Amino acid sequence: MSLLDPLLLWWHKAKVRGKMDRVFSRGRDPYGYDGRSAYEVERLSAMQKALGGRRYARALEVGCAEGAFTEKMAASCEKLTAVDISSVALARAKERLRVQAQVEFVEADIRQWSPAGRFDLIVLGDVLYYIDKPLVREIFEATFPKIASWLSPGGRLMLAHGFAGPQELAHRTGFRERFERLGLKLVSEAAAGPEAGPVRCLISVLESARK
Ligand SMILES: C[S@@+](CC[C@H](N)C(=O)[O-])C[C@H]1O[C@@H](n2cnc3c(N)ncnc32)[C@H](O)[C@@H]1O
Repeated sequence: MSLLDPLLLWWHKAKVRGKMDRVFSRGRDPYGYDGRSAYEVERLSAMQKALGGRRYARALEVGCAEGAFTEKMAASCEKLTAVDISSVALARAKERLRVQAQVEFVEADIRQWSPAGRFDLIVLGDVLYYIDKPLVREIFEATFPKIASWLSPGGRLMLAHGFAGPQELAHRTGFRERFERLGLKLVSEAAAGPEAGPVRCLISVLESARK
């Protein structure tokens, strides 16, 4: 880590937060999860399937946005922590899940946040590429061991990132490979979304081998 990193992180956090707040301030559901986007509907349904019908005692969703997938996760989690950098998105997620007492919301940049305990499920959906930028690359790389250390022994990590074409697919595969290099084992991997569509989503489920 360089001496400049705290400054770069402060700058980049403000940039990402500003961008996401602007996206969500344009109106509800900017990505069309409500059915306007066949891709998003298929993606969320494939992500839910990849949860494997298990129950999770303590789960974390990074980049929960307005809570569309949080709502699906909540049904299979005893306790669920949902983190997002955007206060605009989080306000909507809180409203959507207001009757789900097992869900707590945290406004934070994942690069600066640390949980109090460990999780048996962590979900990162369409979030890592927002922080994979040249000037903050070292901070980005440091996020992988940090997230891996939050998994309980045998805990599962789901990565779900959209890609358009082979170059982006290789980039998204790189997220999974970083976790594999940290000792996580790949359980399953598949592409989701309309086959003929321009964008598909790589969904990888990994497991912590730590005892
Ligand atoms: C495209 S949305 C994806 C929402 C959801 N995870 C899904 O798979 O549908 C990305 C979300 O990640 C959040 N985000 C981006 N960078 C973040 C960061 N560094 N820390 C926490 N949340 C972040 C954004 O505010 C946004 O709500």
